[in-house]
Amino acid sequence: MKANEVKDHLIIALDTSSEDEARKYIDLLSEYTGYFKVGLELFTSVGPKIIKVIKDKGNKVFFDGKFLDIPNTVSHAVANMVRHKVDMINVYMSGGAVMLAETKKLMFETAKECNIEPPSLLGVTVLTSITNNILQEDLKIKSQLDEYVLHLASIALSNNMDGIICSPNEASLIKTLKNEKYGADRKFLIVTPGIRPKWASADDQKRTATPKEAIQNGATHIVVGRPVTADKNPKDAIKKILDEIESS
Ligand code: C5P
Repeated sequence: MKANEVKDHLIIALDTSSEDEARKYIDLLSEYTGYFKVGLELFTSVGPKIIKVIKDKGNKVFFDGKFLDIPNTVSHAVANMVRHKVDMINVYMSGGAVMLAETKKLMFETAKECNIEPPSLLGVTVLTSITNNILQEDLKIKSQLDEYVLHLASIALSNNMDGIICSPNEASLIKTLKNEKYGADRKFLIVTPGIRPKWASADDQKRTATPKEAIQNGATHIVVGRPVTADKNPKDAIKKILDEIESS
């Protein structure tokens, strides 16, 4: 991968409740990453103003709100996030096809009304902290985890979603499915959290891979949080990750 393209594949997760801490990471890391991820912790604490802080630095925003509700509620919540000019947004695939279709429709209408590009709409499959055992025993879903993720990915593809969130372990199956059914030219983002470089701790993540493995498996974007933000030297950590992506 070309050196100048590498950072476009990296999303740094700003998982903190503190605005000062988020701003510290944004200032420190903005030149090394394409995207920052604003998730529930930061958004519920600081609110939408943090999106403008990131955009003013020239970075893109992945708003990881993981919306799951009835079609009317999700579509209007996504429309509100379009007005905040986020670049990527996600909803749970388990919301069903009507929720996906209504959301996509209102998202496009709102972007047109605001005269801006619509964000990429991604489907959340199964959290990377969920194991096969949790899926089958606690959630009573009979399929194997990778089959279930693949099923949700195929619904995302047939409903014209822009991409999917999954673990790095399922990325290659999804890429193969997409290429076989829709061809290599069909753009479909495969965004994978659960990234753990060899030198980082696993924390609560269960289905993990290194940055290099994730990209080799077909991830188009990797989401990295604690391996960078909890490191003694976040700048060194992010540089090591960029080197790994470049060499993959
Ligand atoms: O710190 P860490 O690298 O584990 O952060 C991963 C980020 O990705 C977290 O912000 C988490 O909310 C998010 N995420 C995830 N699994 C998903 C979707 C998002 O871990 N399926």
